[in-house]
Amino acid sequence: MRKVIIAGNWKMYKTRAEALEMLQKFLDQLDEIPEDREIVICAPFTALETLSKALHGTRVRLGAQNVHWDIEGAYTGEISGPMLAELGVRYVIVGHSERRQYFGESDSTVNRRLKAAQHHGLTPILCVGESKQQRDAGEAERLIIGQLEEDLADVDQTNLVIAYEPIWAIGTGETCESSEADRIIGLIRSQLTHPDVSILYGGSVKPGNVDEILAQPEIDGALVGGASLSPGDFLRIVDFKA
Ligand code: PGA
Repeated sequence: MRKVIIAGNWKMYKTRAEALEMLQKFLDQLDEIPEDREIVICAPFTALETLSKALHGTRVRLGAQNVHWDIEGAYTGEISGPMLAELGVRYVIVGHSERRQYFGESDSTVNRRLKAAQHHGLTPILCVGESKQQRDAGEAERLIIGQLEEDLADVDQTNLVIAYEPIWAIGTGETCESSEADRIIGLIRSQLTHPDVSILYGGSVKPGNVDEILAQPEIDGALVGGASLSPGDFLRIVDFKA
């Protein structure tokens, strides 16, 4: 069975105090949300310990935004799987387009990070997706299939989530047509060997478009950036009506 997952990606937003303030308002109103959906918050490293305590005993799962492939070593600025697992982290985003674009993340490092996450009991959320230029050149499908091939080499598909995030729709307010997102997610699914991998859509998901996006048959959930920062917006998103 494919799990329905709504994951917030807080990126480099929220101090610990701001994180707690958001969470208080969010958790207060979670009772009404149907139980069939997994809710995840992927917070900056500095807020993980605070959130881990605040989420204890709630239904919200904690996620991180990156993980290194080694358990320790001389890798300034990096965080390892055991460091995340110790804090109760369950999910970790790997290969987000902002990591690929601004920090030189390659398919081969994405592949190593995915395997390390799984090795330490975390569920990776692998992000793939094309740029505007690649889409306009008719290269979206080929690019995504290539990313999947390299990123998923020898990766265990029984503990994996994938997010299709067209780069041109991230933080721009420009959403991919839901039928087109559904088509690409169907294509991604056709490349996998395991039938139960949840595949999310990400890119300007908002309260106003989440119902239509999640009504699509291939789309199992959403990876939400900007709109996950506000308790009201994120509540409406996790309360989507499909
Ligand atoms: P956005 O970000 O919802 O702000 O477009 C999505 C993401 O980058 O995961």
